[in-house]
Amino acid sequence: MCGIIGYVGQQGHREVLLDGLERLEYRGYDSAGVALRDHEAVHLFRVKGRIATLRERMAGANFTARAGIGHTRWATHGAASVRNAHPHRTGNITLVHNGIIENFAELKNEITALGRVVKSDTDSEIVAHLFDIEIQNNKSLEEAVQSVTGRLRGAYAFVLMSDKEPDFLLGVRNGAPLLVGVGEGGNYLASDVQAVLSHTKKIVYLEDKEFVLCGDKQITVKRYDGREIVPVVNTLNWSADEIGRSGYPHYMLKEIHEQPMGLTRTLASNVQKGKKKLTLSGLEATDAKLGTFNKVSIVACGTSWHAALVGKFYIERFAKIPVEVDYASEFRYREPVLDERTLSLFISQSGETADTLAALREAKDRRAYAASLVNVQGSSIARESNSVLLTQAGPEIGVASTKAFTTQLSVLYLLALRLGRARGTLSSSQADTLLAELSELPFQMERVLGLSDNIDKLTHTLLRSKLWLFMGRGIHYPVALEGALKLKEITYLHAEGYPAGEMKHGPIALIDRASTTVVLCAPPEGESLLTQMREKVLSNLMEVKARGGKILAVGSEGDTELQGLSDAFLGVPRCSWGMSPLVLSIPMQLLAYYTAVHLGRDVDKPRNLAKSVTVE
Ligand code: G6P
Repeated sequence: MCGIIGYVGQQGHREVLLDGLERLEYRGYDSAGVALRDHEAVHLFRVKGRIATLRERMAGANFTARAGIGHTRWATHGAASVRNAHPHRTGNITLVHNGIIENFAELKNEITALGRVVKSDTDSEIVAHLFDIEIQNNKSLEEAVQSVTGRLRGAYAFVLMSDKEPDFLLGVRNGAPLLVGVGEGGNYLASDVQAVLSHTKKIVYLEDKEFVLCGDKQITVKRYDGREIVPVVNTLNWSADEIGRSGYPHYMLKEIHEQPMGLTRTLASNVQKGKKKLTLSGLEATDAKLGTFNKVSIVACGTSWHAALVGKFYIERFAKIPVEVDYASEFRYREPVLDERTLSLFISQSGETADTLAALREAKDRRAYAASLVNVQGSSIARESNSVLLTQAGPEIGVASTKAFTTQLSVLYLLALRLGRARGTLSSSQADTLLAELSELPFQMERVLGLSDNIDKLTHTLLRSKLWLFMGRGIHYPVALEGALKLKEITYLHAEGYPAGEMKHGPIALIDRASTTVVLCAPPEGESLLTQMREKVLSNLMEVKARGGKILAVGSEGDTELQGLSDAFLGVPRCSWGMSPLVLSIPMQLLAYYTAVHLGRDVDKPRNLAKSVTVE
């Protein structure tokens, strides 16, 4: 986590850096800082808190700079304070860092034994000292990279300025993201493309154990061992307009409303329907290869993990292959049984989540075929995968994931159809019918978005609930989990998701008058099993009601029976089994959003969270 940016060029450095940091703020927002180099000195500005505070602090900094670096922090080592805020400056070196230096205690002892004074509690300052020691010994930045990185353990990306080479920035990457934005009047270094998108769409992604010396007119990329790399310049297809709020009060609300468009774009870019078969852009494996898989293993974190749970339902039903779903942080530390007959799929909006990336490497070591499903083209997970499936949600900036989730579900659905066709478990006409359901979905989503005002109003009456339980069955169970996660992330209320049938095995003990239970009970069209389950869910609902708990039911439009049994009711259009998780997700997102707004929470930047978790 943490966002880092650097710029060397002709534009106003203060604005480039502050604007970039605002775009990176979702990565952490405990403290922030900027260092600007002019012809005489390096000027340091650091604050506890948000970029807005840093902007105020820098209001008078109207000088012409040659280069600068900036940072927004998600604290790992050391509390959120000015002292621990980046950039860290010692001797000749000014540095910003993202990641964790695991052997920092040992390195700190060595440095202090040399008589150096460490001013902060961070691991990052130690790296600045190590570089300074090398520079004081008359090494060049490039020589220093080789000796310093040889001493560091952990995952990191850092950008630094040396007083001895004032026209260059050094960027170093090993395990945390770092890219170069190649501009007209200068070059940029950043954790993420959003920070540079308004200046350039030309991006060079650094790989692990690479560093870049970045001047205003040229960049030199090398491996740690000194081997020069010819940089590959990628041109992004995101537009700078997409990173604004477009008049919405929060990114989250804007992103909720962008879901029909995200779906349409994802569908258009992924489906190539030839005469004979459905193909899926990005899935490099042939039918013959797809036919060899005897297991699918899906690995992800957070909301992407919930998408994986829905994917299991799709793939098992349409392609008849057993699917395992793991949290990335658990997967990498168990002994997963994978081989060349396993299709491993790694889901990540950012494509940078440290545990998911490590899990991908683990699966490749075990000879599994590694596909990824990401929203960020060119991200680390995408680059290391055998096949890359892309969602076209556009930049997702709100910390609580919304449009990435529903577009992930749509690609998982397509993947299941593709596997079903390749393996002969779906006929061509069955696949066509199922595909057509997805094309209808954006219209249904628009209708569900029309519930916004109702949800806004009803959240007022539910604000006093201290506990929220979300229950659903079958393919709606992951939606219940996601509903609970959304609510807890941005409202800080206690929320849990359960399969409705499990309520009696524990959670029902929590029910009292101060609780609200959200009951997902919208049987999909033509699903007799789930229609039967409706009766069972209604029994679960009655059990909650009998104990004084409030009920918010999300059911099919016109279900007067369910409405009559509930304290509040939201009706959604009837849709198919496959589409129902996408349709039901929207009221969950809106419920969390309006509850958080009424509670006065910081919706886009909830406390303690970061959007991209690039440390283990
Ligand atoms: C963080 C974010 C979540 C996200 C998760 C996985 O926890 O706050 O919203 O679902 O990371 O992120 P990824 O980018 O891998 O999907």
